[in-house]
Amino acid sequence: MALYSEKVMEHFRNPRNVGVIEDADGVGEVGNAKCGDIMKMYLKIEDDVIQDVKFETFGCGSAIASSSMATEMIKGKPVSEAMQLTNAAVAEALDGLPAYKMHCSVLAEEAIKSALEDYRKKKEQS
Ligand code: FES
Repeated sequence: MALYSEKVMEHFRNPRNVGVIEDADGVGEVGNAKCGDIMKMYLKIEDDVIQDVKFETFGCGSAIASSSMATEMIKGKPVSEAMQLTNAAVAEALDGLPAYKMHCSVLAEEAIKSALEDYRKKKEQS
């Protein structure tokens, strides 16, 4: 059996939503101390709905595929729904990740949660 699913390879080769949102409403950056990979998420939110999402990932192929899939899963969704996104759901949508690569999908969940938290804080201040 191939180590990585077709979906993982496809999102790794053609990642969706790569880039930066200059006037983002929420930005989250997380890293994994063990592997040194870093992921940054940008959210554009209107009426509590995620209108746009972009990411920059300095990391392994699984982290890039996870970020790509995670952005697809939350785009157009209400904030409350995006908050529920789990790394297991991201890995499942990718048709699985090898066990020792599950932490890469955790990074995607954490980056989104961190960006949503940043959005919430900014909203409270305004
Ligand atoms: Fe660290 Fe994939 S090896 S995020």
